Order: sequence, then structure tokens, then C-alpha cells
Amino acid sequence: MRNSRIIGAGMFVPPKVVTNDDLSKLMDTSDEWIVERSGIKERRYAEDGVGVSDLAVEASKKALAQAGLEPKDIDLIIFATLSPDYYFPGSGVLLQHKLGCRDIAAIDIRQQCSGFIYGLSIADQYIKTGQSERVLVVGAEIHSCGLDFSTRGRDVTVLFGDGAGVVILAPGEAGKGILSTHLHSDGGHFDKLWTPAPMACRHPRLSHEILDQGLHYPIMDGKFIFKMAIGKFAEIVEDALRANGYTLEDLDLFIPHQANLRISNMVGKKLGLPDEKVFNNIQKYGNTTAGSIPIAISEALEQGKIKEGSLVCLASFGSGLTWASALIRW
Ligand code: COA
Repeated sequence: MRNSRIIGAGMFVPPKVVTNDDLSKLMDTSDEWIVERSGIKERRYAEDGVGVSDLAVEASKKALAQAGLEPKDIDLIIFATLSPDYYFPGSGVLLQHKLGCRDIAAIDIRQQCSGFIYGLSIADQYIKTGQSERVLVVGAEIHSCGLDFSTRGRDVTVLFGDGAGVVILAPGEAGKGILSTHLHSDGGHFDKLWTPAPMACRHPRLSHEILDQGLHYPIMDGKFIFKMAIGKFAEIVEDALRANGYTLEDLDLFIPHQANLRISNMVGKKLGLPDEKVFNNIQKYGNTTAGSIPIAISEALEQGKIKEGSLVCLASFGSGLTWASALIRW
């Protein structure tokens, strides 16, 4: 069976920078609290009316240019987001149209912070089975339109930002590319990080009461997520290495989903990885959910932290709950 490999990566974040001091003018928080608890210094917010498909178009153009391809060369789009442009249709079809692709399949997936690795895994199967030749995988979010900017929402709001990352997958030589992916879920904890409304099973889906209670904003049990994330991140990195006969010493770069700098640092220590092998950019962008790993891949490539032959492990944990990893030989 053939392998799949990443032949292009691109990222796009909106130009508007929002600092911790900017947020402290809207709610009771401070730069000191946010930096100490999360490592985040600033994040990007899209302008009103800009959707995730718009961010994805810009990131896709860069990934296509890096791969030396045109939009017409893509034969499948997989779009991971929890913040689609519309309730329906999904953002995949919008990207297909805006980018100028042929009338190819566009699959929208959720899986929140693990959305990108789930998407990568699906793309990998399509390539392995010969169904697809050039797959564009997107992770993108616009959180800024869905956050509570009052003090009530400060624990969640300060953590999240907007952004998009894209990779393009193509068939590759044996022993290179995506070596394995490992996907997990546990819906028993779905309400540890979720947005209760609009509720598709309630009539009406939105009401003044729902808005007054703020049920359309994300709710998180931060301490629960924090503790569980550290254990699961470490577990799935070890699973990915073991499945391929590698150890932690073989790993050149660990790219964790950018949830919290403290989580990434603690996972790195738990695994015994030196700091330079753990990639972090949450300081600049906050948590961009499905966007965070492909954005990190783009930056790591640009900074020369991923080279030809590097062994890279991607890992994620988040709402669902979902957690996942992918081991890649570049
Ligand atoms: N600014 C200032 N104070 C804040 C605040 C903010 N933005 N958010 C919460 N606080 C307050 C709380 O109200 C609480 O006050 P109290 O002691 O008077 O009740 C205090 O700070 C401590 O809150 P606590 O929840 O105990 O803080 P924490 O150390 O657990 O840190 C998180 C909070 C959210 C940073 C942390 O739990 C976390 O990072 N969790 C994981 C989140 C995550 O990664 N989510 C995404 C997963 S993909």
C-alpha cells in the first residue's frame, strides 16, 4: 500500500493583533494572569464578516504555491473547524468555490482541537487506497465572533484566537510521510468543554433566554481539561512511537496542539524531551483549535525546525473529548 506525505503547507492569521492589555479593557483580567496561566501574550481576530473559509483560502494559496500546484490539481478537500461560516452548508464547499477547485468532494469534520489530525488521518486513508492523489487538509477557526467578552467568560475568552493552516498530501515513497495516525474519543465528558446553544433538538434553537444566560458561549471545566490533557498527550505520543518501533530519543520535533504553554511544557517534561524539541507558538496566536497544528507545521518548516528526514510527532487533545497523534517522517 502506498504512503502519503505532506508536499506543501501554508498558514494565514488575520492582521488584527489583540493583546492581553486590550482584553483587560473589556473584562476583569490582566496580562500577568494570562501569561502566567497560559503563556499567551496576544492573539489575532478577524474583521467582522470574514469567515473561516476566507482564512482557509489564503492559507491554501500558500500551501499550493509551496507544493507547486494549482487549485485544479486538488481532488479532495477535508475541512476541520468548529466555527464554520454558516450552520450549514459546511465551509468545505465554500473553500472549493472560493479557491476555484473543480467540483471535487469537500468533507467537513468537527473534532475540535483534534480536528486537524482526524482530517490528516482521513486524507491518509484516501491516498493509501488510491482514491485520491492530492488532498487539501484545512484546520481553521474564527473564535472571536463566539466569545463572551464580559468577565463571566474570561476563563475561556483569553485563551482563544483566529487562524488557519493547510497542508497538501500526495502519494510518497515507502518509509516516508505519514507513518501512522492514532485517533480517540470519549463523549462521556462532552460537557467539559462545549457550547450548549444553539440546540438543534430544541425549538426554537435560539431564544432571548438562551442569549441572556450566555449559553451560546463556550463553557469549560479548565482544571479537568488541564489534568486530562497532560496524561493523554503523553500517552498518544508514546503510542505513536511504539507503533512504529521508535523511542523518544528518535524524535526530532514534537508539535502539540497549542492549548496552553503550561500544558506543552509539562508534557515535554513528562516525556523527558528537551525544550528545543517541543514546538510552541501559542504566545502569538492563542489557541486556534483545529488551526493550531497546521499553523505550527508551517512555522516549523519556515524556521528550519522540520527538515528532510525529520521524525515529527503531532498530538492533540480537546473538546469531545477527542485526542489524537500522527507520526511523520519528513
Ligand atoms: N483573568 C483573571 N482571573 C481569571 C481569569 C482571567 N482570564 N479566568 C479565571 N480567573 C480567576 C478565576 O475566576 C479564579 O478566581 P477565584 O479563585 O476567585 O475563584 C482564579 O482566576 C483561578 O481560576 P482557576 O480556574 O483555578 O485557574 P487555573 O489555574 O485552573 O487556570 C485555565 C485556568 C483556564 C488557564 C486552566 O485551567 C487551563 O489552561 N485549563 C486548560 C484549558 C485548555 O487547554 N483548554 C483548551 C483545551 S484544547
